[in-house]
Amino acid sequence: MTVSPDAPVLFFDSGVGGLSILAPARALMPNMPVVYAADRAGYPYGTKSEAELMARVPALLGRLVERYRPRMAVIACNTASTIALAGVRAALDVPVVGTVPAIKPAALQSKTRVIGVLGTSATVRQPYVDRLAREHGADCTILRHGSAALVDLAEAKLRGETLDPGIARDALAGLLDQREGDRMDMVVLACTHFPLVEEELKAGAPRPLTFLHGGEGIARRIAFLNGDMPWPDTPRPGTAVFTRIDPDVPSLAPALKGFGLETIEAL
Ligand code: DGL
Repeated sequence: MTVSPDAPVLFFDSGVGGLSILAPARALMPNMPVVYAADRAGYPYGTKSEAELMARVPALLGRLVERYRPRMAVIACNTASTIALAGVRAALDVPVVGTVPAIKPAALQSKTRVIGVLGTSATVRQPYVDRLAREHGADCTILRHGSAALVDLAEAKLRGETLDPGIARDALAGLLDQREGDRMDMVVLACTHFPLVEEELKAGAPRPLTFLHGGEGIARRIAFLNGDMPWPDTPRPGTAVFTRIDPDVPSLAPALKGFGLETIEAL
């Protein structure tokens, strides 16, 4: 298949979380043309049902692929990936990269064999997570906690707002206060919003913890799947597309610019 060098990579999330995947991908492939899609009209995903997301996400990605003709699509969202990846793959005729909790690298590194998975409520209850835990962390205790407040915190941070330090503290307490939580040494950031507030999580931790996420691995996967398809010779300004432009969108513009997304448009 011949792909035009201008064909973008489409990144998709409910909000700004996918920027934590876009950043390492841009670092690895600086000339990659980017369309970053945020489903603000559907935000947040983490409190929605499986049925709602299975219906919504593949249909939306279908519209985005039709409009932007990307060379591949990256579901830069754990909630959408753990629930709707198969549906998206069936609906699209381009390669699809998903984002799933980094339980495998955490299990490889954990010394105490107690690992926390911090995601959305929808992600942490998925059989997909049970499977990862079984396959890669069978000898580990895997604690799980879902936090919607931490997702909102990341959105607020990127709007440049003042943040309540109690939110990161409470999210970690949701893991640390569980049985064996006192021995946890690794925290898998199983929501793409959370690496954006890693600083706040570190500051809120009562003792040093290692935070892990899959951003670099996904960047390498994109490069691998891209193979020999050409990139433009120079970096191009990227586009952010929102399913709803509400009054908060303009306050995100400076942060989006920092990720190379210069134009904002509505789907
Ligand atoms: N960023 C998304 C994730 O990785 C979901 C956040 C939300 O909309 O609840 O799970």
